[in-house]
Amino acid sequence: MEVARTIAETRRALEPRRSGGVGLVPTMGALHDGHLSLLSAARAENDTVVMSLFVNPAQFNERGDLASYPRDERRDLRLAEEAGVDLVFAPSAEEMYPPGFQTWVDVVELGSILEGAFRPGHFRGVATVCLKLFEIVRPDRAYFGQKDAQQVEVIRRLIADLALEVELRVCPTVRDADGLALSSRNARLSPEERERALALPRALATRDRESALRLLAESEGVEVDYVEVADFQPPVLAGAVRVGGTRLIDNVVLDER
Ligand code: PAF
Repeated sequence: MEVARTIAETRRALEPRRSGGVGLVPTMGALHDGHLSLLSAARAENDTVVMSLFVNPAQFNERGDLASYPRDERRDLRLAEEAGVDLVFAPSAEEMYPPGFQTWVDVVELGSILEGAFRPGHFRGVATVCLKLFEIVRPDRAYFGQKDAQQVEVIRRLIADLALEVELRVCPTVRDADGLALSSRNARLSPEERERALALPRALATRDRESALRLLAESEGVEVDYVEVADFQPPVLAGAVRVGGTRLIDNVVLDER
């Protein structure tokens, strides 16, 4: 497995590998089984699998959240290698956002509802970094998790609006045995908070907004940001809650189109 730190190295490494299909799995590291399922889907469909490993400062709207985001590059590289990744692109923030950087891509409406309303600028950061990653890696297919349903919808719109030549692949949410959707931020939950956090998947499992809100209102130590039906592809019941200092998002698919 190669590790490239610069855009130029990445382009050079991929040049001879274009013919058999290139799959990109964008990540911010702190890999868990959700990421591994994306890597395994990419491995099954492409001759070359690229994983990006970049904690994107532009998508964090709180300094504390960025500072405390879990980072363990050595572990991530080991897991990537075990998953059969060919190339990891792990740039610095300066490589991705050089001095003077001022070009942003904003998926205006989709990026401002739900998560976007609670995290202003978040999807502008996501869309910009994904477009730049697509441009650097030029993947045939890019892999995202259904767990971040709104992110998927934003990327789908970005690809359609800018006529990008990349196929979007969406992999199902991976959950722990107790039902909690895997997330790098789960590591911040104390055992007691984790127990409280289970209220979110249990509420969403009702597949009904009012019932979900009622269940969450009865749950001690759980602050609700929103629970909404979102008309995505496919439609989902999506929710976000705060438990202690940790914000959790999750969704269930309502019906396949
Ligand atoms: O889902 C994530 O980890 C990030 O939002 C992504 C897609 C890697 C962009 O930074």
